[in-house]
Amino acid sequence: MARKKIALIGAGMIGGTLAHLAAIREMGDIVLFDVAEGMPEGKALDLAQAGPVEGYDAKLKGTNDYADIADADVCIVTAGVARKPGMSRDDLLGINLKVMKAVGEGIKTHAPNSFVICITNPLDAMVWALREFSGLPHERVVGMAGVLDSARFRHFLAEEFDVSVEDVTAFVLGGHGDTMVPVPAYSTVAGIPIPDLIKMGWSTQEKIDAIVQRTRSGGGEIVALLKTGSAYYAPATSAIMMAESYLKDKKRVLPAAAHLTGQYGVDDLYVGVPVVIGAKGVERIVEIELDETAKQNFEVSVDAVKELLVACKGIDESLA
Ligand code: APR
Repeated sequence: MARKKIALIGAGMIGGTLAHLAAIREMGDIVLFDVAEGMPEGKALDLAQAGPVEGYDAKLKGTNDYADIADADVCIVTAGVARKPGMSRDDLLGINLKVMKAVGEGIKTHAPNSFVICITNPLDAMVWALREFSGLPHERVVGMAGVLDSARFRHFLAEEFDVSVEDVTAFVLGGHGDTMVPVPAYSTVAGIPIPDLIKMGWSTQEKIDAIVQRTRSGGGEIVALLKTGSAYYAPATSAIMMAESYLKDKKRVLPAAAHLTGQYGVDDLYVGVPVVIGAKGVERIVEIELDETAKQNFEVSVDAVKELLVACKGIDESLA
């Protein structure tokens, strides 16, 4: 059986980390595409030379030519400009929308049968635009945000409870931005929901509220510390989980920006919700019952995504 092919569109900080993780996990052969000259080839060569030491077999190719992504099984898109300190994800909109147009057309021409995971921010708008420009079926285009946001929530909760991160599950819904909705009632330590843990004296409502707030601004916290870019280790590993669930038909239940067609009262919008990812792409959207607070927060988040789409349509008439 031929190896799978993973195309990484954007070979910057996240793209390079994705290539390393995909190689170490022997997910398939890897193409690093970027508009920057030399850099994708340099990263591909460097990573290929790590192969004998790490013990992975993967062909790695760096390129500026979309023809090289031909027949990719998975495309992971990070092409665009990353956030600088003081810049919101939404500031990126105009620049990255143009990039999505070029990438969408490249995928449409060369890898129309792939499963596409978008990471470029502002995520919920960019994944929607990428789907529009590529014309791929909605179930084969998703946005990576929820796995990352819930991983951030899990990390902070594990620290608070002083337990293994493995035993903490967390739920985060809504848009990827300051309006995202961490849901404590669906977040657990070994199955025990956070509200119960508060009753058991493991934490306080105030501390959990602070963790929710820190999760919401988790990306910005890292941007402020790094000063020259945004997070890349956790975003890359989160997208790899999603790609693996597709390639191995694992049917994992993961939060992702998926196309809603009436679920949660939302139509024709990409927003973060729990989905099942298997060989058919997004195979199911999980519609959970939300309490009043979560519902209200989700609506605020959806409205923020809607505003971005209006802005996108204003910038590029072909989207209107
Ligand atoms: N086609 C392909 N690649 C492009 C294009 C394009 N039209 N425009 C820019 N790029 C490339 C850049 O040359 C750069 O190498 O995208 C890469 C982006 O890499 P970084 O700047 O290192 O950004 P990164 O940290 O990887 O984040 C990428 O993910 O989390 C989001 O907000 C983040 O939108 C950003 C994206």
